[in-house]
Amino acid sequence: MKNREFATVLEQKEIASGIFSLWLQTEQIAKDAVPGQFVSVYCSDGSHMLPRPISICEINAEEGKLRLVYRVVGEGTAEFSGRKAGDKLEILGPLGNGFPLKGKKPLLMGGGIGVPPMVQLGAALKAQGCTGVQTVAGYRDELFLTEELSASGDFYIATEDGSAGTKGNVMDAVREHGIEADVIYACGPKPMLRAIKAYAEEKGIECYISMEERMACGIGACLACVCQSKEMDGHSHVHNKRVCKDGPVFLSTEVEL
Ligand code: FES
Repeated sequence: MKNREFATVLEQKEIASGIFSLWLQTEQIAKDAVPGQFVSVYCSDGSHMLPRPISICEINAEEGKLRLVYRVVGEGTAEFSGRKAGDKLEILGPLGNGFPLKGKKPLLMGGGIGVPPMVQLGAALKAQGCTGVQTVAGYRDELFLTEELSASGDFYIATEDGSAGTKGNVMDAVREHGIEADVIYACGPKPMLRAIKAYAEEKGIECYISMEERMACGIGACLACVCQSKEMDGHSHVHNKRVCKDGPVFLSTEVEL
């Protein structure tokens, strides 16, 4: 069930250049949220700007708290990043389908601002008894959320400039460490997702991809997020899917990248 409510900012800080961590106190949203879902955050003027979809990084259902980690990319996100503890923020959520929780040796791969949703996913897999969680996070140079990610299991880093972990991308780290998996979860920029999809399909590994970077309004109104799906209808037409409504998580074999 999704709700629209005024959440209270508990804490906000910049954890890397232009990347902000925001803890919110919600009434209902945190109680209903699952890993891989997102919320739409409204701007204070409420009128002109579309709400911004932001992925959920951590959920504390018991206390009703939600953590969002996002990059400031424009006016809307710049505005939220100025909110301080005690301020109100209007949010709608939880939205989207989320990740199915499965696998004995799941491999979680996040790149850039696709890293945050892997925190709650790893925590949820561990909480349901999975002891084989492996996470690979890819960064340009600055690291963030490393402590949270390593709490779920084995944790590997890739950086573009080689300043930490494997030099290169997440797939380079997978090869360097010989990481094996029975299910893959991925979120990040399109070239990364394309490489992971190809790898998973070649190896025959079930792979779930979150395409959240493609979203704009997040509420099914703008159609900016439409992607081609391989699912055929009765007349063998290719179906288009809205990432925000039908996703953001898709089975890799279902979508074209
Ligand atoms: Fe606007 Fe999906 S993001 S319709």
